[in-house]
Formats: sequence, C-alpha cells, structure tokens
Amino acid sequence: MKIYVFGLREDEIEPLNQWKVANSDVDVDYTTEILTEETANLAKGADGVVAVQTQPYSRHALEIIHDLGINKFSVRNVGLDGFNFKDLNDFGFTLTYVPVYSPNAIAEHASFLVGRLLRRVPEFDKKFQSGNFKWFPTIGTEISGKTVGVIGTGHIGSVFARIMRFGYGANVIAYDIDPNPALENLGIYVDTLDELLEKSDIISIHTPLAPKDHHMLDAAAIAKMKDGVYLINCARGGLLDNNALIDGLDSGKIAGAGLDVLENENGIFQNEFDSVEAVDDPIFQNLAHRDNVIITPHTAFYTERAVHNMIFDSMNDNKAMISGKEPKNAVDTHK
Ligand code: COI
Repeated sequence: MKIYVFGLREDEIEPLNQWKVANSDVDVDYTTEILTEETANLAKGADGVVAVQTQPYSRHALEIIHDLGINKFSVRNVGLDGFNFKDLNDFGFTLTYVPVYSPNAIAEHASFLVGRLLRRVPEFDKKFQSGNFKWFPTIGTEISGKTVGVIGTGHIGSVFARIMRFGYGANVIAYDIDPNPALENLGIYVDTLDELLEKSDIISIHTPLAPKDHHMLDAAAIAKMKDGVYLINCARGGLLDNNALIDGLDSGKIAGAGLDVLENENGIFQNEFDSVEAVDDPIFQNLAHRDNVIITPHTAFYTERAVHNMIFDSMNDNKAMISGKEPKNAVDTHK
C-alpha cells in the first residue's frame, strides 16, 4: 500500500517519520509542492493521497489524481473551503479531514490577539524599540467585564468561549445555528446574529467558510455593531469583508482587529519578502500599517501538538480507507 503526501513542510517530516515507524507496512512518498495540475502526476502508483493547502484544489488536479486510479483523499486540516464538493463527487473521491487536531491552538491564539489589542502591545513594542518606556498615553482596556461575542461554537469557538469566560471573566455571549449542547448550561446563547453584533464589545468568529457565509461580516453587519468594537478572525478571511473592515477602522467604528487570516492571503502568507512594504497588495498594505491591527500569517493552528495530530490523524484515515476500513473522520461531500 502506498500513500503520497502533498505539500509536506519541514516541520512535518519528524511526525511523518514517527508515523512511518509505527506503520512500516505502508510505503510513503512525498513532495514539498502543494497539489496542483502541475504536481498531481507525482502521486502515480499511490493508493491514496494526503494534502494540506490554503489554495483551492483545482478540478483539473483532482481529475489527474482520479485518472491515476486514486480515489482516497485525506486533508490534514479542518477547513474544507478549498474544495468544490461537486468535483470530488464527480470523480468519486472519498474525503477525510482532521476536525479536532487542537482546538486550543486556535482558541488560545485568538485570546492572545484580544489581549494584545486591548493592552496596545504593538504600540508599546514600537515605543520600546525607540527607547520610550513611558506609560502615557498608551493606556489599555481590560477584558474582564467586557461582552465577548463568539460566532460559531464548535470545537474551537467553545474553547475560546471558556477561556474568555473562566480565564478572563468576560461576559460571553454566543451565536450558532446549531448550538453546542456542551455549552447550553452556560446560558450564553443569543437567538440571532444581530443580537450578538449589537451587544458585543469584542467579536470573534469561529465558523467554517461555507459559500453562504462569504462576507458574513460585511458593511451592514458592521453597522449593527457597537462603536469601538474589536474584531478577531482566526477562521477564514472570506468571512470578513476587507473593504468594510477598512472603512470601519477609518471611521473608528472598529477600534481594532486581530487577523490570523485574510481573504487575500494566498501568495502572501507562507512566503518571505524583503520587507512588509514589498508585499504588492493594497489591502494588506492598508491593514499592515495600522497600530490597532494585528496580523499573524495564518499561524493560529501552528503548534507542535496540532502538527503531530494533523499528520497522524490524516495518515491513519487514509490508511484505513485504503484497507477498506471505516475512517475516523469521513466528510459527507454529498450534503
Ligand atoms: C485549517 O486547519 O483549516 C487551517 O486553517 C490550518 C491550515 C494549515 C490550513
């Protein structure tokens, strides 16, 4: 049995080697290239493929994999917005994903973004570098007592809600079309997204990017928010309309934003430039130069535990499918 891995990063080599030691009956080969129509043929001879990327999976690349006789596909991440499920179904793929590699990784990162924004860390960092160790006028705001609105309360959103409520003492409210039974006893759910938008001082979004949720937070949604709201997005860039965000920051409606994802991140994140200024993207330039915006390059997930689990869970599921067994995390692509 052979599994071909696309887009393997340096930090994934060690966990992959560990997996191989425990699964010596599987032949594993890999490329550091992501899956595209140019690289798809590298999987020739494999029984299954494992991939991760933030760039969309093109229909043609999937067609090439299918023409190689492969129909077992595992991604080693949670977000599935890079797929058009119709393509997967047309080519008869079965798909697995890794929904719970480490909810804490992302929830903790989101909480750090809140803390860094409210305590004005970027401004203090700048002052420090210039030898200015004065307090005034960089006074902060406390999270305790603030109303934190959590949109989406799956694995990640629910950990974030608990950190905010029990760690910081915030008044947490949440909205989800499908409330999480594990949180029901906290009494945090509001009935509508609008209610959450209207009541929150800080809003953090933790939903997948389904086509219907593109620009869930657009100009109309932002208009409903409190003046001086803080926005956190560690989910998907496409959930937040960048132009509306910039307008909100310009007017002061939005006091600050912590962004681990950007709609225009492909081609920027995971690349190295000579400087921030060398990034040829007006939206990125606009956001990157504000003291009240913190951008992290899609690193919320990036912890040792998460990377280990992404490799192990995806490889285990791909092997299970090839062996004719039930994978742990199958995706229903027909829904
Ligand atoms: C995800 O798990 O969906 C992420 O956003 C992480 C990234 C490696 C794609």
